[in-house]
Amino acid sequence: MRPLAPNHRSLSIDESATLAISFRAQQLKAEGKDVIALGAGEPDFPTPEPIADAAVRAIRDGKYRYTPASGMPQLRAAGARWLQAAFGLCYDANEVIVTAGAKPALHMALSTIVEKGDRVLIPAPYWVSYPALVKLADGEPVIVPPVPEQQFVHSAAQIADAAKKSGARGLILNFPNNPSGAVPTRAQLESIVDVAAELGMWIVSDEIYAQLRYDGADYCSPAQLASGRDRTMVVAGFTKSHTLTGWRIGFLAGPRDVIAAAARIQSQVIGNACTISQEASLVACAEPPHEEIARRLPAFDERRRFLVKAVGEIPGLRLQAPRGAFYAFVDARELCERMRVTDVEFCARLLDEQFVATVPGSAFGAPGFFRISYAAPLRELERAVLRLRAFSLEPVRR
Ligand SMILES: Cc1ncc(COP(=O)(O)O)c(C=O)c1O
Repeated sequence: MRPLAPNHRSLSIDESATLAISFRAQQLKAEGKDVIALGAGEPDFPTPEPIADAAVRAIRDGKYRYTPASGMPQLRAAGARWLQAAFGLCYDANEVIVTAGAKPALHMALSTIVEKGDRVLIPAPYWVSYPALVKLADGEPVIVPPVPEQQFVHSAAQIADAAKKSGARGLILNFPNNPSGAVPTRAQLESIVDVAAELGMWIVSDEIYAQLRYDGADYCSPAQLASGRDRTMVVAGFTKSHTLTGWRIGFLAGPRDVIAAAARIQSQVIGNACTISQEASLVACAEPPHEEIARRLPAFDERRRFLVKAVGEIPGLRLQAPRGAFYAFVDARELCERMRVTDVEFCARLLDEQFVATVPGSAFGAPGFFRISYAAPLRELERAVLRLRAFSLEPVRR
């Protein structure tokens, strides 16, 4: 008789590295240490009041019952209108479903399109959950090594090469990128999408940071391109732009038949996304697009500029200006070599000795780097940089 034990699939899934760091940071905090937590990707701004008020109203008015599994029809329609108004993406309501956040949207998308054993290209650095999500869909993640010398944007030739060598059927894109902040030019994205079209690959485009762009970086999505529209599933939402982090709400948009299949899976796995959050999201969809982000962007940008300058002045560290999201992906290869540590040891020591929580690049498929989240007040970043500088001088002093 087979013993009762976790199956192979579950054993192939690691715990999220970012959660592990947060846990250690919380432990140190509980011990009374002055921890500066720059590990998590959660904006320090509160959820906008009109959205919060709508949620309270929904509870008071008894709007908390089950909705259709793919979301309230009026929110699917509002989501489609928002995708058009904010990004110029053309979907009708039945090409959009409401999910319980971007993560479940990715899970529904991958569960719908990955066939058993399909290889899926994941360009590094990648958001930590992609490889696990591909495995959970019975696919095989194929990591494309990072290209820091190209501002972390792979060329079409590099993607084509990786696809041909592995026989990949799919590609996960995430721009603006977590952790690198990379945003390709329209021409760069177009040439990657052309490769996907030529090789018959589908694309999952994780656009959860789409509104957070700097230095005039353009929004561009595979779904806007003629060769991409019918092979792309777009993951979008207000998680990062409006701090709907714990609200668990997001959108998945794509070709009608694929969306209908994703909706069937969602109906069996989670049912509907939180009804109260759906009611509140109607308000988020209705506000003029980019209004909330316009309030936040100057603060994020100030922090970004501060980090680029201040981190760049620390010997052994380099930082290319991120063009999107709210992360600085620091090249610490030189300093790690000098200290004779890996990036994982570097971040563990930075936390244990200087009480600054960051995430090692290895978690994102880019060893030698580490990620600072600047979804934190400027004064915290200033304090963190002082500690980082002191830490970087340690090996010289010893
Ligand atoms: C690139 C990326 N995709 C998806 C998510 C998950 O977002 P949600 O909280 O909406 O599930 C995150 C959260 O950190 C992320 O950084």
